[in-house]
Amino acid sequence: MIRTRVCELFDIDHPVMLGGMASITAPELAVAVSEAGGLGGVGGSYLDAARMHEVAADMRGRTDKPFAINFLLFVDNQDAFAAALEAAPAVMAFAWPSDGQDLAPWFDRAHAAGCKVMFMADSVEGARRGADAGADLIVAQGTEGGGHVAWMAASVLVPMIVDAVAPIPVLAAGGIADGRGLAASLALGAEGVLLGTRFLATVESALHPNFKQAILDSDGHDTVLTEIPDVAGGRVWPGAMARALRNRFIDRWAGREWSLRQNQKSAAATLKAAQQAGDVDEGSLLIGQDAGLINDLPAAGDLIARMVAEAEEIMSARLPGLLG
Ligand SMILES: Cc1cc2nc3c(=O)[nH]c(=O)nc-3n(C[C@H](O)[C@H](O)[C@H](O)COP(=O)(O)O)c2cc1C
Repeated sequence: MIRTRVCELFDIDHPVMLGGMASITAPELAVAVSEAGGLGGVGGSYLDAARMHEVAADMRGRTDKPFAINFLLFVDNQDAFAAALEAAPAVMAFAWPSDGQDLAPWFDRAHAAGCKVMFMADSVEGARRGADAGADLIVAQGTEGGGHVAWMAASVLVPMIVDAVAPIPVLAAGGIADGRGLAASLALGAEGVLLGTRFLATVESALHPNFKQAILDSDGHDTVLTEIPDVAGGRVWPGAMARALRNRFIDRWAGREWSLRQNQKSAAATLKAAQQAGDVDEGSLLIGQDAGLINDLPAAGDLIARMVAEAEEIMSARLPGLLG
């Protein structure tokens, strides 16, 4: 059993969290992670208030365990946030504020509702900003990760943020897919890990089966940092690119983003159709470099048990065996 301060803070058995993904709100996966003793999370940023209520009630109906609701701050979805506050999840998770956005009103309202506050940062400055606003926990997200990421690698960023925000606990995110990543993160000073891509390739994930297969097929060298999915979606992300599988859709527009902007509406419609059809060549699949470590589709609970057992073996047998 690996116990860290995060286990106490969130009242969970294992220091393994599922990142709340706004683009794929999937209660089944979040419930599976929480039921297995990790912390499941759902994204609320693109839901209306009624749907947020439904998702939270669905989660509550299926698990008594703690879970998180995630908000992308720059989206500024006050209706969904108000609905989430009423649901009072154990953890309110925030990420990606816009420049100059005041974090304290969000964190204060979450605290007043009885939630712990988690804040994801991709730089030391961002982590300090979250800590100063009162976050209970900082997620240090490296560029290896899937979805929107910045430029620093987790191996460097995690210990820098651990030092910068001490004694606030830190989770490592980006590129972690197995017990080796968990053990390494703990060695870097993190108190646990937050995963996206690895959990997308599980039985309970809502991802189209073709996209799950694409994660298994990826060797991790075939992801790119790109703004193309956001340009096609008509979104401007504050200070980040998306790490996505390099496919025909990305190659068609790479270097021609100006043209994609001009053709945004038709490109968005084509992309949406490809997404629904599970077209791996023409859709957009946001995944991390850790896709290169993913070779199976386990149930989320089995995955957590396997990760923790592997990390325990590394910490209790392999590493002590190296000491002279
Ligand atoms: C498809 C996708 C969507 C994501 N959406 C969000 C989001 O809405 N909010 C958020 O805080 N993080 C989001 N993330 C980032 C994850 O929370 C996590 O930091 C990241 O996946 C970690 O890297 P990994 O994919 O290598 O595990 C997303 C990641 C992916 C892959």
